[in-house]
Amino acid sequence: MRIDIISVVPGLLEGPFSHSILKRAEEKGLATVRVHNLRDYAGGKQKQVDDYAFGGGAGMVMMIEPIAKCIEALKSEREYDEVIYMTPDGKKFDQQMANELSLKENFIILCGHYKGVDERVRLKWITKEISIGDYVLSGGELAAAVVTDAIIRLIPGVLNDESSALTDSFQDGLLAPPVYTRPADYVGMKVPEILMSGHQAKIDTWRFEASVRRTKERRPDLLEGKEI
Ligand code: ADE
Repeated sequence: MRIDIISVVPGLLEGPFSHSILKRAEEKGLATVRVHNLRDYAGGKQKQVDDYAFGGGAGMVMMIEPIAKCIEALKSEREYDEVIYMTPDGKKFDQQMANELSLKENFIILCGHYKGVDERVRLKWITKEISIGDYVLSGGELAAAVVTDAIIRLIPGVLNDESSALTDSFQDGLLAPPVYTRPADYVGMKVPEILMSGHQAKIDTWRFEASVRRTKERRPDLLEGKEI
């Protein structure tokens, strides 16, 4: 998989992809993330990427030309499955969307800034608009990092123990059960006996029931219309 992220603040994306699981994914050749500075595609001395909104009003709008040049340059090098725009008015990101995107080969993520992009960018190139929640960030970069992380960890071979992505919260529509590690007794706080019994079927049942209980308590909306 290859993800090309277009940003006016590429520095914001320097950290996340050079550590831990995402770094390993790159080293194993399973996922490549490249960040492109939109200013490199801007004309003039000023390298201008934004301008005043027609019709007036506060806030600047990201200009179409630099974005056009950047997207077309990328598209001349390879095929893309999606051109995604990060915006608070996009479709809300969830695990199902992460699963779907993890099956794609290449995509571009355009990070919004200021008052957003010229509407003609959305009409001409954008195939999917994603929001990571009902709040407004100062730009799409952190949202792009969230989406990229959630997708890359699902690519087979990225996590050491592949089954660990399968037992994530949300993967089966339920929250994950509680987990414990050593010591078995911490100042009187004991690990449930069953988890140390070695009886895998009983442990699986305990975990499933604990997942259902936790989901009922914290996210009953996830169980609506489900029979458990
Ligand atoms: N840009 C600003 N806020 C955002 C959000 N909530 N999701 C995606 N992109 C954004």
